[in-house]
Amino acid sequence: MALQVELLEASFARIKERQTDFTDCFYAILFKDYPDVKPLFAHVSMDDQSKKLFDSLALVVRGLRNPEALMEPLKGLGTRHVQYGAVPAHYPAVGATLLQAFANILQEDWTSEVEWAWANAYSIIAQIMLEGSEYPPELLQPKALVERASL
Ligand code: HEM
Repeated sequence: MALQVELLEASFARIKERQTDFTDCFYAILFKDYPDVKPLFAHVSMDDQSKKLFDSLALVVRGLRNPEALMEPLKGLGTRHVQYGAVPAHYPAVGATLLQAFANILQEDWTSEVEWAWANAYSIIAQIMLEGSEYPPELLQPKALVERASL
């Protein structure tokens, strides 16, 4: 995995200082830009959910120096997401939302290098999660993902 560990760690340390602002911002953008995903979260406590999202990002950042150890947990997370109603096309939507929320919180520290590092990290994470899920192959084609990313 070609990841820019130091950039990811340093930028995430800044996000950590503003954890609640970050998660509030993330879900506000997600539900505004992709209202179709809202029903998936209807029964979920958003406080708990925000904490879980943040903890999973923290876990990934902590694991970056030993990425092999992240493979099985991320595949398992992907498997569980099939039960949650997530489909492959949701992954680019969540990725775009994540980058936007980072940008809002980091402001001038959201440089193009940091953006690239997170975009790359997210696409690797999403790919591993998707490997752990059993979607029909046609749903995993890049074309299908792009077409449905504007859900
Ligand atoms: C890198 C991508 C993602 C990460 C790291 C992530 C992380 C998590 C974590 C840690 C949980 C808590 C439950 C568990 O551990 O199984 C969760 C729950 C959930 N995620 Fe994600 N997620 C990602 C992508 C997505 C996508 C693309 C969707 C689709 C909209 C989604 C929708 C949900 C929903 C609906 C739940 C609540 C499940 C429930 O309690 O019923 N997630 N996510």
